[in-house]
Amino acid sequence: MRLDKLLAHSGLGTRKEVKKLLKTKIVEVNGKVEVNPKTHVDPDTDSVTVGGEELDYQEFVYFMMNKPQGVISATEDLMHETVLDLMEMQDSLQEPHPVGRLDIDTEGLLLLTNDGKLTHRLLSPKHHVDKTYYAEIDGIVTEEDKEAFKQGVTLDDDYQTLPAELSIIEVNEEENTSTVELTIQEGKFHQVKRMMQAVGKEVVYLKRLSMGPLSLDEDLELGTYRELTEDELELLKKA
Ligand code: URA
Repeated sequence: MRLDKLLAHSGLGTRKEVKKLLKTKIVEVNGKVEVNPKTHVDPDTDSVTVGGEELDYQEFVYFMMNKPQGVISATEDLMHETVLDLMEMQDSLQEPHPVGRLDIDTEGLLLLTNDGKLTHRLLSPKHHVDKTYYAEIDGIVTEEDKEAFKQGVTLDDDYQTLPAELSIIEVNEEENTSTVELTIQEGKFHQVKRMMQAVGKEVVYLKRLSMGPLSLDEDLELGTYRELTEDELELLKKA
């Protein structure tokens, strides 16, 4: 790839900024000063240093975000702020995309990456990657609901869901509310909300806690994100 592209990919600025940087003669390719942005380099075999430091080039980037309400899980939207708007990825050529969707009013764990293969694997219906949600419900969730979810429920479009595990955390008879955790193996549109509707209840707050082996880092404030650790990434790739 072109040297200016590689430098920009590595977080050293926009293509324009990178051209200026090259003019300062601090970039070396295989030990020789290089000023030409068009020079072709192979990030796997060529050594590129900036001010004597080896370039840390990553082809793929992986982030977890604690998605807040009010933003949509897309890369671009004319009406709403998107999760990408919350990230400082301007001019980065490794623009990540959200792995699956959370509704605009859903909070919690969202994985973002530019690794298409991993995205495909995690989203493929064949792979049944577990997703666990915390939900606050208008209505009393019962043992019968738990049993129904275990068998799979029928959604409003007649789709029969795969078995899901429902745990009741708390029931408040006076206020007619419940809090639950629900693990589903699929990712149909509005699935948790529609599963609750199928047993006559309404989700009033929803937060994703985990996806496969990846759990939301509770230290991440709403609207913030961080790179996955090596351990997290390894687990995810094995999932
Ligand atoms: N199920 C839903 O209903 N909404 C989400 O955002 C995720 C799962």
